[in-house]
Amino acid sequence: MANQYPSVDMALKMLEEAKVLSDGFWIAHSKNVGEACRLIALKCPNMDVDKAYVCGLLHDIGRRFQGKIQVGKQHTINGYRFLMENGFDDVAKICLTHSFPNKDEVFCYGDDCSDIDNEFIENFVKSCEYDDYDRLVQLCDMLATDKGILLLEQRCINIALRYPADDREIKRWRHAFKLKEYFSEKVGTSVYNLFPNFFENVVNYKQPV
Ligand SMILES: [Fe+2]
Repeated sequence: MANQYPSVDMALKMLEEAKVLSDGFWIAHSKNVGEACRLIALKCPNMDVDKAYVCGLLHDIGRRFQGKIQVGKQHTINGYRFLMENGFDDVAKICLTHSFPNKDEVFCYGDDCSDIDNEFIENFVKSCEYDDYDRLVQLCDMLATDKGILLLEQRCINIALRYPADDREIKRWRHAFKLKEYFSEKVGTSVYNLFPNFFENVVNYKQPV
């Protein structure tokens, strides 16, 4: 079967089109997620680097249909439908799986979906098999802000300052820490060592207090 993901150039163009429709922090965040995925995939045996990059770039593409305030799962299913319509099934799957590192509890903060969409997302996530592209985007989505890549601990605090960090959210974090160890083992060093300017990003980051 042919690759079911667009070229890197096409993915970058899709992001530029989306920026016109719905500009926001998510555009820079998506580029940073893509770059983090690319840098880790480069060191992972058996990963297609372009596919990893494109999956990171387009994981939030469903936000092209929303305004600046975007909370909840709606962007996951919007992105899935948009990419399926364009024949990019592999990345469409990532749109639905990236927010749910904890497969047993299909939770992310914010209730912005219809019951039918919630049911579809839950059934899809629980019945699909996660592969390393799903796992990589889940990790990099947690590591990257619009300003750059941070420590996972900084991102957890960042989320807790904006949303209620309840038990379900903390379970998501636990999965994210496991993913960091999983990929660090694969690449033979802490994934943090792969990111240029990481130290500067970490020390210069200001939490939204
Ligand atoms: Fe994201």
